[in-house]
Amino acid sequence: MDTATTPGLEILFTRQQIHERVAEMGAEIIRDLDGEKLVMVGVLKGAALFLADLARAIKADATFDFVAVSSYGAGQRSSGAVRLIKDLDEPIEGKNVLIVEDILDTGLTLAYLRKLLLQQRPKTLRIATLLDKPSRRIEKIDADYIGFSIPNLFVIGYGMDYAEHYRNLPDICLLTPEHPE
Ligand code: IMP
Ligand code: MG
Repeated sequence: MDTATTPGLEILFTRQQIHERVAEMGAEIIRDLDGEKLVMVGVLKGAALFLADLARAIKADATFDFVAVSSYGAGQRSSGAVRLIKDLDEPIEGKNVLIVEDILDTGLTLAYLRKLLLQQRPKTLRIATLLDKPSRRIEKIDADYIGFSIPNLFVIGYGMDYAEHYRNLPDICLLTPEHPE
């Protein structure tokens, strides 16, 4: 699937813009690590592509783990309750942990995850999000590293989905009225 050949899409951030911003984020993260090791915790599934690229921009000793969460209730509106579907594989006590998320929206997901991971007493716990939609926030939470801050738009591509589709688009896109469905 590619952006130019898929009808009903408008590019918000090109693959080149994403690549450059992710490289900058990697450099910021390395600087803050001070030569220590890192555990990157990706939030499935949306953050998978971002984590893959961010990991390659972090020239340090980094390991991966993944969690999966789901919010109760159907549809695009979250009911507010988040539950864990997949837990960490390895303990994180005493480690430098970076949660890697695709979008910080209402903040419900990351507030839940932060609380959960803090119970394990990591040495540090930071958050990297590719996109931030500050206008939608319900829970008071900020990311330490933000790729792009955007208004209240629904985006797809580069890991992010509409009904599980479009995750493999290389660019971050908006659906236009010409979009079929
Ligand atoms: P929050 O708990 O409201 O912050 O939810 C964040 C999650 O909602 C993200 O990890 C995404 O999976 C999903 N999400 C929020 N906005 C969008 C969007 O514009 N496109 C695709 N998924 C989104
Ligand atoms: Mg997500």
